Amino acid sequence: MLLEVKDLGIAYGKRPPIVRHVSFTLDAGEVLAIVGESGSGKTTVIRSIQHILPGGGHIAEGQVLFEGEDTQKQTPAKHRALCGRDVSMIFQDCGAMMNPIRSVGAQFRDYLAIHGVTDRDEAHALMTSMLAMVRLPDPERILASYPFELSGGMRQRVGIAMAMALRPKLLLADEPTSALDVTTQAQIVKEMMDAARSMGTAIIIVTHNLGVAAYMADRILVMKDGRPVEYGPAEDIIRRPQTDYTRMLLAAVPRLGGVQ
Ligand SMILES: Nc1ncnc2c1ncn2[C@@H]1O[C@H](COP(=O)(O)OP(=O)(O)OP(=O)(O)O)[C@@H](O)[C@H]1O
Ligand SMILES: [Mg+2]
Repeated sequence: MLLEVKDLGIAYGKRPPIVRHVSFTLDAGEVLAIVGESGSGKTTVIRSIQHILPGGGHIAEGQVLFEGEDTQKQTPAKHRALCGRDVSMIFQDCGAMMNPIRSVGAQFRDYLAIHGVTDRDEAHALMTSMLAMVRLPDPERILASYPFELSGGMRQRVGIAMAMALRPKLLLADEPTSALDVTTQAQIVKEMMDAARSMGTAIIIVTHNLGVAAYMADRILVMKDGRPVEYGPAEDIIRRPQTDYTRMLLAAVPRLGGVQ
């Protein structure tokens, strides 16, 4: 098993846990979608996997096990792997995470260098092949561009290319397409899935959109007010939702990928 989250509780600062009783598992190559309304704790849960919670956020209860090891007991070296090589993250707005006054190529190269790919030719070959994988035309031009010269969809593709370049075992994607128009959303989701499948990468995707979840995920975790509401095979959740809350989320979304 790649990831096991056991009765997880997460608190910010000294306050009582805002997230409680979250449990799920993920095998290599599997896709889990976490859905729920704003403030339900989705981002809090996925950030806790890498222990990168802001505002004094920390695991207060339960465990996160990565490849059987408790991530709260890890060495600094293991922690670095958990924040780059083994596990990587794609954000809602990858452009906002980039430095506006440095080229895409310079930032991509830095990212690779931090994680051990220091040879210039090797880095260049890796960057261009990854940009091609996410179907960005003319990789050389992309590398020479500044973030503001690219569209939102292109920046998300760059984000996916960077996040997948080191062949992570697990990709965490927090609303990776919600800032984009519906057509581009569908393309980006597909490119993310294709890249992950070709590398055997497991994905946890956070989304408001149960349509995206239905299209991508093997399993779905529905969250409300920091608690799990439903968890199970995607097909069961979509076809036989057990709660009014899930039915409401289902009713609220445009369909994607032909799921009825
Ligand atoms: N930095 C922080 N400091 C204190 N509390 C926080 C912080 N970030 C989040 N919280 C609390 O955790 C709750 C869950 O927030 P979280 O960002 O995980 O929700 P979410 O499901 O990702 O929402 P959204 O869909 O809007 O992104 C919030 O309602 C808030 O009370
Ligand atoms: Mg969030």
